[in-house]
Amino acid sequence: MKILFIGDVVGSSGRDMVQTYLPKLKAKYRPDMTIINGENAAAGKGITQKIYKQFLECGAHVITMGNHTWDKKEIFEFIDDANNMVRPANFPEGTPGKGMTFVNINGTEIAVINVQGRTFLPAIDDPFRVVDELIAQAQKRTDIIFVDFHAEATSEKQAMGWYLDGKISAIVGTHTHTQTADERILPNGTAYITDAGMTGPYDAILGVEREAVIKKFLTSLPVRFEIDKKGRNQLNGFLVTIDEKTGNASKAERILINDDHPFID
Ligand SMILES: [Fe+2]
Ligand SMILES: [Fe+2]
Repeated sequence: MKILFIGDVVGSSGRDMVQTYLPKLKAKYRPDMTIINGENAAAGKGITQKIYKQFLECGAHVITMGNHTWDKKEIFEFIDDANNMVRPANFPEGTPGKGMTFVNINGTEIAVINVQGRTFLPAIDDPFRVVDELIAQAQKRTDIIFVDFHAEATSEKQAMGWYLDGKISAIVGTHTHTQTADERILPNGTAYITDAGMTGPYDAILGVEREAVIKKFLTSLPVRFEIDKKGRNQLNGFLVTIDEKTGNASKAERILINDDHPFID
């Protein structure tokens, strides 16, 4: 079984990249399942119901989120009914939405979990203990478990990877928007990458217009961050091949599409 993951989709340019390249990626790699991180899909901040539905229509099975989950107010109106969306599971109990969902692909169940780190991010519940509980629940139903760990610090992401090695099929880092070249299969069979990267503006800074970000560094004055629409775009992701019988990963590949790394059919 192959699972394709697409890193943080930023704004309309990111959504356009998904529309253009998801069909091509599906034709090339034939993934059984596609997961998209959509925390920045609505102009960089959160997601709307319309965009959530567009992603599903485009062929995504699950949308994962992150620290931007709550940026669009309408999220509170639809997240409880959004069966194919997971937000960080370690938000306090009673938070709308859910942190784990199950998808059935041709009779095989896959659990998808979203958790958020606490280093240089708001202090929510302990992601390590929360993920343990969810994995224990998931294992009653399936050995195929995919975790999107939305975190800032490389150390926290590596720690989570090693902590979960052998318990899950794959862990992909998100949030830092820059793809890392450390994809691997850990010794006990869990596919790992520190960060899948982002999908959207390529000639920008983490998706934001670079002039504003540079001005901020030069002046320390308040500036307005807008998602870049002038430059070229990119798509970043991660592709995992999993042995359905054991839940172990057998292959971990980075997906990187931009003008410096063009897509080859
Ligand atoms: Fe993000
Ligand atoms: Fe984030």
